[in-house]
Amino acid sequence: MAGLALYGVIGNPIAHSLSPVMHNAAFKELDLEAYFTAFQVADLKAALTGVRALGIAGLSVTLPHKTEIIPYLDWVDASAQAIAAVNTVVNRQGQLCGYNTDATGALAALQAKVTLAGRRVLVVGAGGAARALVYGLVKAGAQVAIVNRTPVRGLALAEAFAVQYLNFSESKDFEAEILVNTTSLGMTPASDQLAVPEALLVSPRVVMDIVYNPLHTRLLAAAQAKGAQIIDGLEMFIGQGALQFTLWTGQTAPLAVMRQAVLKQLSGT
Ligand code: ATR
Repeated sequence: MAGLALYGVIGNPIAHSLSPVMHNAAFKELDLEAYFTAFQVADLKAALTGVRALGIAGLSVTLPHKTEIIPYLDWVDASAQAIAAVNTVVNRQGQLCGYNTDATGALAALQAKVTLAGRRVLVVGAGGAARALVYGLVKAGAQVAIVNRTPVRGLALAEAFAVQYLNFSESKDFEAEILVNTTSLGMTPASDQLAVPEALLVSPRVVMDIVYNPLHTRLLAAAQAKGAQIIDGLEMFIGQGALQFTLWTGQTAPLAVMRQAVLKQLSGT
C-alpha cells in the first residue's frame, strides 16, 4: 500500500487498550510507515463501511465485537469460525479477512514452557477467552477439563469441544498438570481475589493467568509459592499481538520491544 498504512483496534469501551502502544512500538522498530490507533465503536456495521471506504489496512477487534463482526466480513479463517470469534481483520484490496490469534497466541505462551500433547489442562471460566483457549488446547492434543461458576455455561462449552466439565470439587481429583484462568477474577481493583480454591493449585506445574492488571496476580503468586512455573497475562496479550502484526505486515514481530512498550504503559512511566 502506498503511503501511510492506518490500523486500529475497535471495541467499546476502548480507552484503556494497550494495543496502540504495542503495535506502534513494533511499527517503529521495523521502520514501517504505519500507525495504529483506537476507535470506540458502537455501530459496528457503519464502522466497517468506514474501514472499507477509508482503506484502513487492518483491525484488532475486541469486546463486544468479536463474534458480531463475523457476518460483515468477506472471508473468515476456519479456526476463527470454530471459535466463533475474530480478533484480527486484514484488509486485502478491499476484502476484509478475519482471523483469531487469541488461541494461537495463548498456546505459544504455553508451549514456550511446556508441551501440551497428552497433558491434563484445567481451564477456569467459560467465556470467549476460554472458548479460544479450549479450541487451541484440544487441537494441540491436550486433555482438557473446564470448571466455571455457572455450570450451564461451562457444560455448553465442554460439549461444544467434546471435553469434560467438572465442578470445583471434582476438578481437584482431575489433578491438572496445567491450569489456566480465563476469568477476570483477581483483576484490579479486586486484586485480592483468588480465581480458584487454593487446593486446586497443588498439582499444576504450570499456571497461566489471562489477567495482566496486576501482572503478578494473587493466583500466580500462590502458584509460584507452590513451585509452579507461571505465565502472566501479558505474555498471552503479546502473543496474540505478535501474530496480528505478522498477519498485517508479513514480518516477524519484535516481541521484546512490544512487551517493553506495554510494560512501560502499564507502569505509567
Ligand atoms: P470473556 O469473553 O472475556 O471471556 P465473559 O464471556 O464475560 O468474558 O466470560 C467471563 C468468564 O469469567 C465466565 O466464565 C464467568 O463466569 P460465569 O459463566 O459464571 O459468568 C467468569 N467470571 C467473571 N466474573 C466472575 C466471578 N466474580 N466469579 C467467578 N467467575 C467469574
